[in-house]
Amino acid sequence: MCPINYRTTYQFLGTWAVAKDHGAGSEEMHVLYASPGTIEAYRKDGHFPDGAILVKEVYRAATGAMTTGTVSHVDSLRGWFIMVRDRNGHHPASDVWGDGWGWSWFDAANPSAASRNLPMKDGIVRPTFDYKENCKGCHAPAVATEWIYIEGYPPLKH
Ligand code: HEC
Repeated sequence: MCPINYRTTYQFLGTWAVAKDHGAGSEEMHVLYASPGTIEAYRKDGHFPDGAILVKEVYRAATGAMTTGTVSHVDSLRGWFIMVRDRNGHHPASDVWGDGWGWSWFDAANPSAASRNLPMKDGIVRPTFDYKENCKGCHAPAVATEWIYIEGYPPLKH
């Protein structure tokens, strides 16, 4: 199940803006939270601690003129990417656990169960039966930092 109350009980890590292919502003915005204690542990030894949970909110963005310029802000929520740290590989037979994490997508329309379908920005729906096919390739550039794109998360740095 998607963690509840994470917006008040989790630690804020950072945001991403995915630009529109055409026109000004963002297509999507991503907002990252980590379970309590993740930041402190990471600062200590540069590793995500066992059991840590990362919640990535995926929003459609809306863009308009504001007094600061052309500005995008979060609009409707599409769902959540969630990763759970499992440093010792407790679920070797599973198709959603591996490489030190559990990997899942929860659709906003059905937050109580991990989705088997992964709707992409391009509208194509890919089945998420295997994290190796549906997550791992896209996270390969971040393999040196435990598959996580830490450059977007200032709180992890001292
Ligand atoms: C199209 C490529 C792509 C796919 C597919 C993808 N990711 Fe990611 N993911 C990224 C990128 C790039 C980032 C950081 C920038 C962003 O959010 O746009 C990211 C960020 C994340 C984050 C925030 C922590 C981090 O690594 O920075 C989580 C959690 C996450 N992804 C989980 C998943 C899971 C689970 C799957 C599979 C169900 C998945 N992703 C599939 C490219 C992808």
